[in-house]
Amino acid sequence: MKTHTLLMPLDMHLHLRDAVMLENVAPLSAYSFSGALVMPNLVPPISNAAEVVAYKERVLAAVPNDNFEPYMTLFYKNYDKTFLESVADEILAIKLYPAGITTNSEGGVSSFDIDEMRPTLQVMSDLQIPLCVHGETDGFVMDREAEFMSIYELLATNFPKLKIIMEHITTKAAVDMLDKYDNLYATITVHHLLLTLDDVVGGMMQPHLFCKPIAKRPEDLDALLCVALEAHPKVMFGSDSAPHPQHAKESCGCAAGIFTAPIALQLLCEIFEQFNKLENLQDFVSDNAQRIYGICPEFKEVTLEKRPFAVPENYNGVVPMYAGETISWAIETVD
Ligand code: NCD
Ligand code: ZN
Repeated sequence: MKTHTLLMPLDMHLHLRDAVMLENVAPLSAYSFSGALVMPNLVPPISNAAEVVAYKERVLAAVPNDNFEPYMTLFYKNYDKTFLESVADEILAIKLYPAGITTNSEGGVSSFDIDEMRPTLQVMSDLQIPLCVHGETDGFVMDREAEFMSIYELLATNFPKLKIIMEHITTKAAVDMLDKYDNLYATITVHHLLLTLDDVVGGMMQPHLFCKPIAKRPEDLDALLCVALEAHPKVMFGSDSAPHPQHAKESCGCAAGIFTAPIALQLLCEIFEQFNKLENLQDFVSDNAQRIYGICPEFKEVTLEKRPFAVPENYNGVVPMYAGETISWAIETVD
């Protein structure tokens, strides 16, 4: 039986939610990942040190094992220097959402006026707090990410020492930005390495494959596969696993978000094996993130085996990607 071992897998973009949902989904990530960058888009969003600390405690309380590190984030606002200094030790990054662009982002940035943002971004740069960005405009849905590239350029050139992470990139346009600016990095999800818009709405509409940013064209998928499979040194795995209750997905106003956390490593093995690139998966799923963020995660050794695995229909009312389908890798042991 073919096996593949991963050390300290990291998920650098994860939605864990709160309360009952947190208790449901956090153990699933903590089982197979050493750590995850936890997104702050709760209602209301995480926006001060006390909330970060309290949320981290709730995450840890929801996790049964002690070898999982929740790396915390703060919801971007135009914070001042004193505030940023007081919160810097509690967080790994700050996450910026354009206002209203995705789930629970209403309090985000409504104008990318660099002069208004400069005091905050300059202090973040000085304190070496990376800026994670949901890079979409409010334009036509297929063009939103590509349209956002000019804002990335503005940020990258105005703050050359600020680490800027283009979250969950979905386009060739974003891939092309990586080598243009030293301070631009990216996360890529597993679903964006598998899907195009055709899979979402080309046949019957698939609510469990609907997310922001929406999956794009075949040429975009190819560009993403190219940098992920080579484990481009500025690219990291971030699942953007975004659980919603089944009724919120299977409804006439389908919530955006794909739940992949419990099958992410299995699917990554499947993709990397298919392209004969399994040897690069370690960099993509851990080593690049360790270097980019300067983190040393808890030890964890995950061995996956190539054998059929039937994806559960749901996890306590949350339907995963590929529910009820059989994928070709399974987690064998976690030490
Ligand atoms: C995320 C969520 O549900 O919180 N949804 C999504 O489609 N990815 C928010 C986000 O990351 O955009
Ligand atoms: Zn997200």
